[in-house]
Amino acid sequence: MADPSFPGIAAEIKRLTGLHIEPEKYYLFEHRFPEVMRQKGLKTFGELLVELQRGTDHKFIGHIVEKITTHETRFFRDESIFDALSQQILPEWKDRNANPANPALMPPLTIFSAACSTGQEAYSIAMILAEFHPQLVKSTRIIAADISEESVERASQGRYTAFEISRGLTEKFRKKYFTEVEGGMVVNKTLLPRIEFKTMNLLTEKMNEKFDIIFCRNVAYYFAQDSRITLFQTMKAALKQEGILILGSAESLSGYLTDYVLREFGLARYYELNTASITMFARKK
Ligand SMILES: C[S@@+](CC[C@H](N)C(=O)[O-])C[C@H]1O[C@@H](n2cnc3c(N)ncnc32)[C@H](O)[C@@H]1O
Repeated sequence: MADPSFPGIAAEIKRLTGLHIEPEKYYLFEHRFPEVMRQKGLKTFGELLVELQRGTDHKFIGHIVEKITTHETRFFRDESIFDALSQQILPEWKDRNANPANPALMPPLTIFSAACSTGQEAYSIAMILAEFHPQLVKSTRIIAADISEESVERASQGRYTAFEISRGLTEKFRKKYFTEVEGGMVVNKTLLPRIEFKTMNLLTEKMNEKFDIIFCRNVAYYFAQDSRITLFQTMKAALKQEGILILGSAESLSGYLTDYVLREFGLARYYELNTASITMFARKK
């Protein structure tokens, strides 16, 4: 018999993170929380619920959030979107932003890797810039954020195990952008300073700047419907006019927000913010 505190715990987790945990997944609480509960001296799930509702021990709550969130990621995850970035999104951005009097003069390009987990997505973006658009590198800011302090800490170190390195990185990129260290590889300093990593809850905090491109992948998938709406509204508010929103391959804006045009490049799909047009998901080329 499931513990009677489980629905309350699920509601608290949703309030804290947006994550939607179905009753058939309540067994995860029994698998993932006991160790953290023991460290805090909590004996029952009822006591855990009270602690979550009290909400004063942020470190403990952070550990609980850590245990229940999925941090799965890899370099160049869903490769086709990185082809789209390199061959369509960035060239179009350059065309739109070029100064006819001085084509070399570009405004700053800002990219947000939302829910960045341990940073592989942000470094993949940085590698695309360095490899295929080196003239943009200096004027680009990449911000990467995640709710998980542990993941953000790891991301900012840029240090990966051999297994993590083997997932998605070609030998060429491995050699060019990483250096071997004990137990794995570390991102070269040429890529590290380009990314600002920070801890952030995408559902409760707002971005205080606007971005040209937002990667917000494989996080809405785990959210309840109302949290998805909040997330998508936050992302829209953080996009510049004609900004690009990239979701995970199993995620879609359909039924949530208008004002976007669905764009395609090979197998990749992404959204372009177009508040001037009322067309919902009209396809551009
Ligand atoms: C499955 S990973 C996706 C990582 C990366 N975007 C990718 O597609 O490979 C989901 C990430 O979302 C983060 N996350 C979950 N809820 C969040 C929230 N409310 N605010 C910010 N990040 C959140 C988790 O900590 C986790 O690292």
